[in-house]
Amino acid sequence: MPTAGSRLVVVSNRLPFVLSRKRVGAWNVQPGSGGLVNALLPVLRNRGGLWVGWTGAIDGKSAELELALEGLTKDAGYRLKPIELTAEERDKFYYGFSNEVIWPLFHDLQTNCNFDPEFWRVYQQVNRKFADALRDSIEPGDFVWVHDYHLMEVARELRRSGKRCRLGFFLHIPFPSLDIFLKLPWRRAILEGLLEFDLLGFQTLRDRRNFLQCARALMKGTTVRGKGQVLELQLEEPERTAAPSLRVPRDLRIGAFPISIDYNSYAELAASEVVAERARYFRDSLRKRHIILGVDRLDYTKGIPNRLAAFRNALQRFPELRQKVTLVQQVVPSREDIPQYHNLRLEIEHLVSEINGEFTEPGWVPVHYIFRSLKPNELLAYYRAAHIALVTPLKDGMNLVCKEYCAANVDEDGVLILSEFAGAAAQLQKGALLVNPHDVEAIADSIYQAVTMTPEDKRARMRRLRRTIRDTDIFWWVDSYLRAAIEKDLSHFPLAEESTLDVESILTQ
Ligand code: F6P
Repeated sequence: MPTAGSRLVVVSNRLPFVLSRKRVGAWNVQPGSGGLVNALLPVLRNRGGLWVGWTGAIDGKSAELELALEGLTKDAGYRLKPIELTAEERDKFYYGFSNEVIWPLFHDLQTNCNFDPEFWRVYQQVNRKFADALRDSIEPGDFVWVHDYHLMEVARELRRSGKRCRLGFFLHIPFPSLDIFLKLPWRRAILEGLLEFDLLGFQTLRDRRNFLQCARALMKGTTVRGKGQVLELQLEEPERTAAPSLRVPRDLRIGAFPISIDYNSYAELAASEVVAERARYFRDSLRKRHIILGVDRLDYTKGIPNRLAAFRNALQRFPELRQKVTLVQQVVPSREDIPQYHNLRLEIEHLVSEINGEFTEPGWVPVHYIFRSLKPNELLAYYRAAHIALVTPLKDGMNLVCKEYCAANVDEDGVLILSEFAGAAAQLQKGALLVNPHDVEAIADSIYQAVTMTPEDKRARMRRLRRTIRDTDIFWWVDSYLRAAIEKDLSHFPLAEESTLDVESILTQ
């Protein structure tokens, strides 16, 4: 277990720095972005440790990659260990099994899955590669914290090699219900692999409940003890398999830990004069219309076409909104080598041009479409300027955009419209307007409700949202996960979600 002095070893598909080849033997290094990097780098800096992951480059030799990364961490107190992937491994492990099998299946989109057995073979091979790198790098007492769906087999591979250490796992994406999980041809192997960890972390109570249902259905004799945020799970000796040594009776912990953002840093940067100035500029350029903001990675789970259809529906059913609202939709390019992602881009661009074609009038273009990453201050200025954030994924592990929007809404005059199927809905349901992302009329109604909401109601809701996000920020998340790994008595871990029952009852009806 991670004791006060023990080293933390973080393992994730990507390292917090991205390498791309400049020329033979020379690399460009870019800092990675995202919640995981922001959360874990300060922890590693504090306590020292190691981060193991892929650099995003292919066919780079480890020694060469290590050299390129060395300068970055010389005085940082932690080390980076790059994993080299071949082009075949990138295609079959990253694009293939991770993003054409697990990603769609775990987001309830089984018709998007490509269950190619070759993908599974290479997934295991790459998980073994990560485990081999760990075996050579970990020291006695280390706590190894593995992240996300790319690496669900690492514990099994590491234990197979005879290495003993404490292993935690956190799943950043949803865990599906039993009916959907059963469709996975490798369901038992994946489940057994996950059960090799000592602590399994999920984003929400719903994900944890889904996992427990799958474990009970597929692993005879599974029992669960306790209540609250962290539970104990006991596995009985199951029947013998090809790898009997893996299947001894053992206890593990399983918890729900909603990930978050560095609230204070978002709020402080958003309050800065440079961001305020830029936000004013956006509002003035859009002639003080209501700005409705969508910010998403290009992904079919984000529900962007449904959102555009809902915006169109709002303009059709509430003509008084015309000229009064502008939708700013930013899409960050992602995984474009997967055909579905490329097709999604075409679909979005087609819809944007249809809506603009139907409604544009002199001085008003209803949809402003941005297909690129924005610099941090630019994004913060959009957050600060937006009167409404439209966050309507079909399914999402957590969704940090909604938390970033609220943290940056320092004027407390914004409204969050949030999908019931974002993990964040369990925590934010009281302040947000919750919507079913498949119901375009309901989203359109919420847009109308948000535009016509009184300033007092907006402020009360936004205050509530900001308080929740501030109190359970990213440092709370890291701390509660690591405490769950250490503490003997789990009874004082309260439920992490504001009012789980409401959303649970909506979603289980
Ligand atoms: O949400 C899961 C996740 O893996 C995030 O950690 C990451 O920011 C995003 O998807 C995109 O990841 P990638 O570009 O590595 O596929």
